[in-house]
Amino acid sequence: KKLAKQAKAYSDSDINEVGVIGAGIMGGGIAYVTADRGMSVVLKDINKAGLALGLSEANKLLAKQVEKRRKTPIEMGNTLNRIVPTLHNAPLASTDLVIEAVVENPVVKAKVLAELEELAPNAIIASNTSTLEISGLAKSLKRPENFCGIHFFNPVHKMPLVEVIKGEKTSDETLAKAVSYVNKLGKTPIVVNDCAGFLVNRCLTPYFHAFNQLMTDGGQLAVIDKVMSKGFGWPMGPALLLDVIGLDTAAHCIDVMAEAFPERMYKPEINLIQTLADRKDFGQKTGQGFYRHSADRRGRIK
Ligand code: NAI
Repeated sequence: KKLAKQAKAYSDSDINEVGVIGAGIMGGGIAYVTADRGMSVVLKDINKAGLALGLSEANKLLAKQVEKRRKTPIEMGNTLNRIVPTLHNAPLASTDLVIEAVVENPVVKAKVLAELEELAPNAIIASNTSTLEISGLAKSLKRPENFCGIHFFNPVHKMPLVEVIKGEKTSDETLAKAVSYVNKLGKTPIVVNDCAGFLVNRCLTPYFHAFNQLMTDGGQLAVIDKVMSKGFGWPMGPALLLDVIGLDTAAHCIDVMAEAFPERMYKPEINLIQTLADRKDFGQKTGQGFYRHSADRRGRIK
């Protein structure tokens, strides 16, 4: 209740300009939903191809809105204009919130986060990490009180839930600002405790282990996916979900969870997710994962 009250106090005032670091599957989606709600976005990546992908994703989603007459072409243009793509750090200086969405690697993330503290001195900083503890990532920061987790789900424009994670040193003010930002997106924030995988990925990881086990016991991919989606009314089964997440990201997450919970989330001897990731068959984003996908990373499965 206290948090909701504080978040209300921050709504519409504090978060107007948002930096997003990493224009991949998640960064592109976060940039789109943020710009769609009237905030300006600085979308930064280390390579042009990454930026182009992030932007084309926003473009496609907006074009669909125009097609369905939910937006006018002018509104589409205005939303796109609110996203400033960049390979440089300078535009981050005036942001109120920066969300880090680079690869799920603690060393890379620690470096990026420490730089952000210097580059965006007035911003609160958040990580979109799927599994890494926020208190652990905070160790690279001089002002850990300004840092929290804001964990979106994929695809960002469709999934209403966002986990907001309070690290050991996150201040109530930072948490309230994060919650108010999520509210501003029209999404549902859930404040969760800090531990590897938070809440959702602690449920999801054993599910992926069970899928891997079924496959190594001779199960059939398409049958498992059909049974799990039809049986539970879920939009997709585990293999397709893994392809959508990205096998590289999923493999990193499984490693983190195995280290954090060695008794319960062991790393399996035969790990099909790791095998595909090692082959660079990352799923939808590369065109090949458990399934083959069309060239368009959000495209239909062939
Ligand atoms: P991705 O591989 O699609 O994109 C990562 C992007 O970060 C790439 O465009 C890469 O060029 C860029 N990048 C790498 N190092 C950088 C740096 N130093 N500065 C700026 N950009 C840099 O990865 P994805 O799937 O978007 O994941 C990003 C984060 O979001 C990870 O922490 C992941 O665990 C988390 N996440 C992923 C979900 C998913 O379903 N894929 C769901 C929820 C969270």
